Amino acid sequence: MSSPVQTKDASRRKSRNAKAGLPRLGGLAERVAEAEDNVKQWRGVGAEESAELSARGSVFLKHRSRRLLGNLLAPHKATVAVMIAVVVMENAARLAIPFLVSLGIDRGVPPIMDNGNARTLIMIVLAMLVTILVQGASRIAFQWMSGRVGQDVLLEVRRRVFKHFQKLDVRFHDRYTSGRVVSRLTSDVEAIQEMLNGGFDSLIRAVLILVGVGVMLLTMDLKLGIVCLLSFPVLMLLVRWFSVNSSKTYRKVREFSAMVIVQFVETMTGIRAVQAYRREPRNAEIFEDLAGSYRDVNTTAFRLVALFMPGVKLIGNITIGIVVLYGGYRALEGDLTIGVLTAFLLYLRMFFDPMQDISQFYNLFQSASAALEKLSGVLEEQPTVVETTNPTPIGRARGRVEFEHVDFSYVEDRPVLPDLDLTIPEGQTVALVGTTGAGKTTIAKMISRFYDPTGGRITLDGIDLRDLSDDDLRRNVVMVTQENFMFDGTIADNILFGKPSATREEVIGAAKAVGAHEFISALPQGYDTDVEKRGGRLSAGQRQLVAFARAFLADPAVLILDEATSSLDIPSERLVQQALQTILASRTAVIIAHRLSTVEIADRVLVLEHGRIIEDGSPAELMHAEGGRYAALYEAWEESLA
Ligand SMILES: Nc1ncnc2c1ncn2[C@@H]1O[C@H](COP(=O)(O)OP(=O)(O)OP(=O)(O)O)[C@@H](O)[C@H]1O
Ligand SMILES: [Mg+2]
Repeated sequence: MSSPVQTKDASRRKSRNAKAGLPRLGGLAERVAEAEDNVKQWRGVGAEESAELSARGSVFLKHRSRRLLGNLLAPHKATVAVMIAVVVMENAARLAIPFLVSLGIDRGVPPIMDNGNARTLIMIVLAMLVTILVQGASRIAFQWMSGRVGQDVLLEVRRRVFKHFQKLDVRFHDRYTSGRVVSRLTSDVEAIQEMLNGGFDSLIRAVLILVGVGVMLLTMDLKLGIVCLLSFPVLMLLVRWFSVNSSKTYRKVREFSAMVIVQFVETMTGIRAVQAYRREPRNAEIFEDLAGSYRDVNTTAFRLVALFMPGVKLIGNITIGIVVLYGGYRALEGDLTIGVLTAFLLYLRMFFDPMQDISQFYNLFQSASAALEKLSGVLEEQPTVVETTNPTPIGRARGRVEFEHVDFSYVEDRPVLPDLDLTIPEGQTVALVGTTGAGKTTIAKMISRFYDPTGGRITLDGIDLRDLSDDDLRRNVVMVTQENFMFDGTIADNILFGKPSATREEVIGAAKAVGAHEFISALPQGYDTDVEKRGGRLSAGQRQLVAFARAFLADPAVLILDEATSSLDIPSERLVQQALQTILASRTAVIIAHRLSTVEIADRVLVLEHGRIIEDGSPAELMHAEGGRYAALYEAWEESLA
């Protein structure tokens, strides 16, 4: 739960905002649309889907949100039951106090006035003391338990969401952008946190108090009770007006809050491109626009509260005035005791207080229900690439890879690989060449099982990739790409990723084998040099060498290199090429390279065009094939060297 300091801070900020000038509610819809367009335009793809953003909060949780919440609370059932009992006890104690006051006035005071006998009054005061103690103790107990349960629930949410995001396949992450992932784990979790902080018990309390006070008023004095309850319809009208307007406004608050996060995250993760294309002013403009609208909708929300709260007070005070008039008149008539009148006034105060909580609660609840809806949506998202529960053991594969009538498309009706048949015998080094967009990377990713075929099957040593355990698959198939991600840690740590159990000697051996040892030894701390986030301290070529060492250490049966030598200068490439020959000798390899010098070390070349193999043969054969694509490529390449 957030600290009270934070809460106080937030409310101070809120009240300051509430004083600021207020914009009209109208025109906001257009501004939302415009802002969404801006975000999309800059990212080139739909940012937050507006359908997702406008996930309507409602007082009733949608089915899957309820299931998630129930599921999260299930381990705490006993505690929650005790918490509810404690809240009931606390409020019963609260309700007893005005009644005890009336007893004190009507039964305790007269004996003192008559004969100085304070016994009754002392008894009543003692009873009040006990009640107050019960109330305080149950309050403490409740806070204690709700803090514990709330934090456990949040921990569980964070843990589940993180694990699930990690488990979801590449296809999911292709469309679910980092900005959205971040907003799931930050603002959505916070929304739930805030509801757990203040929402739940204030709702229970509001209901208990409203019902309890109503019953007390009617039983203590029916006529006066009815007069009091006459204010109820007016109050309900006001609550209705507020809830209709605030649900609209708070939905916009959430939309803008999400867009602000998305714009921030996307700009900062793409900061290099942003700076390179001098996109800063435009991005700042979009950001300011979004943040400005965010402020405006928030201001509108505070304006609603600013009207609602005094409205409730006004109705409350008018009711109190009427009760004083009518009750006073009846007291004069001797029809009503002063004690009962006092109790009525105290109860009325109590009655109108929770109304003000409701306005806060409504907002919290709506945010939390929208957040729950999005989180449960993500959590119910099933990976399309799933590990089999009944894997065929393979151990160390020999490395025969086969595509059998493989169909594949990223989006429906746009086939990338139509009916591909391909057999790579064990130990063969295959080079894939072809124009941009031909499907080379797609083939590489499919051998690594980042995607499953839509038709046909891909096998390793005759076993469908879908029948292998993830461990076996990852041990046997390793892909090195152009984007060589470096994790936080030292260079040695990063090489160790290939085989966590390796010794220092093996790490150094791997680096030597790929020609990375030299530059690593020249670094200030050698293998213990920290690669900063994203490998900032290493050049692109150096990162590629580290990635090679990582793959070499992993020693897979099938190695895939997708443009993996493209960042190396010619001498380094030569060096790597020699190393490559040793690395590739003992395994099946698929190399994708634009430089034909790299292709030359292959046993076999496949020329790919629109997902089809149009040429297949040894480099020497294809080089001399009359009118062949590879021959033409080779000729052009030779000319460029001359
Ligand atoms: N994540 C994706 N979602 C949708 N379509 C994709 C995705 N990745 C690739 N494609 C499409 O699939 C086709 C093949 O892409 P692929 O990346 O395999 O080409 P490539 O041969 O590796 O090209 P290059 O030489 O430029 O790397 C292209 O038309 C591309 O637009
Ligand atoms: Mg590619």
